[in-house]
Amino acid sequence: MKLLITGGAGFIGSNFIHYILKKYKNYQIINLDKLTYCGNLENLKDIEKNPRYKFIKGDIGDKDLIDNLLKNEKPDAIINFAAMTHVDRSILDAEEFIKTNILGVQILLEASRKYKISRFIQISTDEVYGSILKGKFKETDILDPSSPYSASKAAAELLALSYFKTYNLPVLITRSSNNYGPFQYPEKLIPLFVTNLLENKKVPIYGDGKQVRDWLYVLDNSMAIDLVLHKGKIGEIYNIGGNSEKENIEITKNIFKILGKNKSSIEYVKDRLAHDRRYAIDSSKIKKLGWKPKYKFSEALKITVNWYKNNKNWWKRIKTGEYLKYYQTQYGKK
Ligand code: NAD
Ligand code: TYD
Repeated sequence: MKLLITGGAGFIGSNFIHYILKKYKNYQIINLDKLTYCGNLENLKDIEKNPRYKFIKGDIGDKDLIDNLLKNEKPDAIINFAAMTHVDRSILDAEEFIKTNILGVQILLEASRKYKISRFIQISTDEVYGSILKGKFKETDILDPSSPYSASKAAAELLALSYFKTYNLPVLITRSSNNYGPFQYPEKLIPLFVTNLLENKKVPIYGDGKQVRDWLYVLDNSMAIDLVLHKGKIGEIYNIGGNSEKENIEITKNIFKILGKNKSSIEYVKDRLAHDRRYAIDSSKIKKLGWKPKYKFSEALKITVNWYKNNKNWWKRIKTGEYLKYYQTQYGKK
């Protein structure tokens, strides 16, 4: 099988590529990535010479490039990870979110239709449902996104499903909860807090820190996407939850414990605009397909923290330049 992975130089995409190349010894992967601020080829250094792997630098919004790529490479399936992904950045400026997450997806869908791609997986998020204080969202619940990021992801899904309904394009959607693990860009909660603490800096908690997310280890997500790719039903949506709901403050305390820090490292900062209080999804549909999370939160968090401890060069190189400018815009000069 030949897979076109878009956005494969980012966090989940690079973990997924590693997972697939290891698991399927005859699969080929083409990774198309624009290498935005968070795309990083260091994430894939160990496989760059693998004859079953090829990297192409490019934008999913570049119509000619996508057309030529599908014509020449003839992938069997496309898994679209490419996106602008950080909620806070979407609040600062939504333009690139609309361009990549909506217009870019339309270009991928159109080319997939023209070249008769046999499976198109749109990687989406539980954030499309918006916040829920009690209970869990099912795939059939309405979408009520709060941020420009989640609204753009909801739009992308609807567009993808319209290609299924209108043209029979074999679309599948995954909606996962918050991922964590190696290679996550240190602007997201867990890698930001771990790396700040490793630098003896404070960690910025938004509002009261009692917002709840359902944490999913990135390898568990890779296994779920693999299952959807091979066994998922065309036209269907699959929630992928980690079964690990935690308040942000609890996550922070767990990280303190691993790194020998305490609450004096906390800095309470202004809350995020339209901050969703709780995300929670019901994963029984994908469980019926044969998946459940394998990693226990406490163990996978330790693996993750240790990875950042042992790969300081990876994140120290990132925490300069554009990153610092963004960090200062977000939290003020530190
Ligand atoms: P990331 O920000 O780490 O990586 C995104 C990748 O997409 C980067 O390599 C970037 O260079 C690339 N990219 C951005 N714009 C592009 C464009 N126009 N053309 C080609 N490549 C482009 O993101 P991630 O956390 O790995 O998320 C991957 C996908 O999973 C996204 O679609 C995101 O919405 C979804 N998702 C993420 C999470 C999470 O917790 N991280 C949870 C649910 C869903
Ligand atoms: P984040 O990692 O940005 O993921 P998302 O907003 O997509 O769920 O944030 C996770 C939670 O942590 C969210 O409730 C916002 C909060 N948060 C902080 O309190 N401080 C921070 O510096 C960041 C980045 C996030």
